[in-house]
Amino acid sequence: MFPMKQTHILSAGQFEKKDLIALFKKADEMKVLVEKQRKGKAGLGKASGFGKSSSGFSKLLDGKVLATLFFEPSTRTRFSFETAFLRLGGKVVSGADMMTNSSIKKKETLYDTGRVLSELVDLIVMRHPEPFSVEKLASGSKVPVVNAGDGAHEHPTQALLDVYTIWSEAKGKLDGLTIGMIGDLKNGRVPHSQCTLLKNWDVNFVFVAPKALNMPWEVKDDLVASGREFYETENLDESIGVMDVICATRIQEERFSSPKEAAKYSGVYVIDAAAMKKAKKTSILLHPLPRVDEIALEVDVDGRAKYFDQVGNGLAIRMALMATVLGK
Ligand code: NCD
Repeated sequence: MFPMKQTHILSAGQFEKKDLIALFKKADEMKVLVEKQRKGKAGLGKASGFGKSSSGFSKLLDGKVLATLFFEPSTRTRFSFETAFLRLGGKVVSGADMMTNSSIKKKETLYDTGRVLSELVDLIVMRHPEPFSVEKLASGSKVPVVNAGDGAHEHPTQALLDVYTIWSEAKGKLDGLTIGMIGDLKNGRVPHSQCTLLKNWDVNFVFVAPKALNMPWEVKDDLVASGREFYETENLDESIGVMDVICATRIQEERFSSPKEAAKYSGVYVIDAAAMKKAKKTSILLHPLPRVDEIALEVDVDGRAKYFDQVGNGLAIRMALMATVLGK
């Protein structure tokens, strides 16, 4: 296991299979904790091991402060990290609009921003449009920094929650599964990090993308080096039926040279009730959200649609990850 305590979490490549399983088990415990909190039964009793608090919140991260630095839009990811920290008894300072409202506007470097904030808080979570920008900030920080998405590069904690969802649904049996990834696989940081985590199991991949938006070679080379096989196609209709896990993603409009350029691909893959008819009865459908037009609303009532369950799993895995990084 890599020493997660007081370590920057920058890439999905840092995690080995045993780290992932340990985190998933801890996330299962966090789910129970959250359920109790939401039912108003927290305080949680001795058995939970998370400590009591009169407010009903855990005291595990009592006295700790998290800073969230978002230089790019976010709904789920920022609220998920912040809620996770609060539910563990910590406090949060939030920068939701760092590109326009922080000293970066005055040309402060990411290195200095990291150096300064690490004098104030115990943990930093950051999202930024440039690949490797989180590493730059981390290089100045004396406290751990977690990558919440760096451009088209990586989004390790989204992949953690996705694989945790698959692991939970498959009751830990991932070997032999066929994982489909659909959409903008070139610019989507989520599929990149998903591949990096999933290669720890004996799974096969089907990549469905327009040719210009194929999975990058760095990611595919890495899969080959790990002995994993992948098949590439532009045709969702003929491939959806082989997938055990269907991972849909949106066209990443903000990474294109213009909205017009991105619009060429809008609506290219739409998963609707007719498409789900062709999918395996036992399959599950994931999406990191936000969705644009990739999944029709009518699919929400399909029992195989797990994209809203993923949000709860994200809360649990981020609680597990941040607690672990802070040595709890
Ligand atoms: C993803 C992201 O930001 O990369 N969203 C998320 O974190 N839930 C996916 C996306 O924006 O398409």
